[in-house]
Amino acid sequence: MLDKINELYKEIKAETVDSIEKLEDFRLRYLSKKGQLNRLMEEFKALSGDEKRKIGKDLNLLKSFAQNHFKELSKNLQQHTENQPVDFDLYRPVELENIGSRHPLSIVRNEIIDIFHRIGFNVSEGPEIENDWHVFSALNFPPEHPARDMQDTFFVENNPDILLRTHTSSVQVREMKNGTPPIRKIFPGRVFRNEAISARAHCIFHQVEGLYIDENVSFADLKQTLLYFAQEMFGGETQIRLRPSYFPFTEPSAEADISCVFCKGNGCRVCSHTGWLEVLGCGIVDPNVFKAVNYEDVSGYAFGLG
Ligand code: PHE
Repeated sequence: MLDKINELYKEIKAETVDSIEKLEDFRLRYLSKKGQLNRLMEEFKALSGDEKRKIGKDLNLLKSFAQNHFKELSKNLQQHTENQPVDFDLYRPVELENIGSRHPLSIVRNEIIDIFHRIGFNVSEGPEIENDWHVFSALNFPPEHPARDMQDTFFVENNPDILLRTHTSSVQVREMKNGTPPIRKIFPGRVFRNEAISARAHCIFHQVEGLYIDENVSFADLKQTLLYFAQEMFGGETQIRLRPSYFPFTEPSAEADISCVFCKGNGCRVCSHTGWLEVLGCGIVDPNVFKAVNYEDVSGYAFGLG
C-alpha cells in the first residue's frame, strides 16, 4: 500500500496540462469518484486498524497534495491563456464585406496617374461645364473654328458661352491662370462631343491632359516623356511614332501612335492592319496661349491622351 501511495505521488507530481481538456482528464483520473485516489481509499478501508494507523497519514497527505496540484494546474492554465497575445481586436466594428471592384476606367486612370507621378507630375482637375474662353479662345481657336460648331460642342441651355468641355485642354488654361511656372501636371477627366456613337467612340469619353512649363522645354523632352509613358503603360517593348498634325494651341503639333499592343505591330483588326494605335495629340505650347494667360519667357509642351 505504501508503495502504491509513493508511486501515485510521483505520477501526480509529474503531471502537467496545457489545455482545459487535459485538466479535466487529470481530475477524472485522480480526483473523481472512480479516480485512483478513491480506489486507494477503498483499499484502505479494508485494512486492519494497525495498518490504517501506519498508512492513514500518508494517504491523507497524498489526497491533499493531489487536490492542491489540481488547483495549481488550473491556476497556471488560466494565467497561460490570459497571457496569450490576442491578435484580434474584440472592439473593432464589423467590416462590411467588400463586394465591389474598381471600374475599369478608374483602374486605368489610377495607373496613368501613378506613371506620371513617378516623374514629378501632380494631378489637378477642372470643371466639366466651362465657358468658351477656357475651352477655345484662350487656346487660340479663331472665332470661326469648326470645333466651336453646334455639331461638335454641347452647349448648355442655348448659351453659346457655356458648354460642356470638348477636351481637357481647358484645364491647362485654368492651371496657368491660377499658378505660376514651372508647372508639371496632368489633368484627367471626362470630355463631351456631339459625335455619332460607335463601337470605338462615344459622345462622353475620357482624356488625360499633360502640361509641362518651364524654361527651355524642348520637343525632345516631350518625345521622351511620351516614350516613357508608353513603355510603362503598355510594356517595355512598346514603340511610339509621331506624325505631324495641327492644333490651334500647339506649334509644332503631332499625333502620337503606339505600336499595337494586341499584335505587337504585326497588323490586326484592332489597329486596322497598320500595326499602330493612335493614342494622343501633343505639341509645343503655342505663344498665343502664353499671351492669353500673360506668361513670358517660358516654354512648354502639352499632350492629351484619349
Ligand atoms: N486637346 C486635344 C484633343 O482633344 C489634344 C491635345 C492636347 C493636343 C494637348 C495637343 C496638346 O484632341
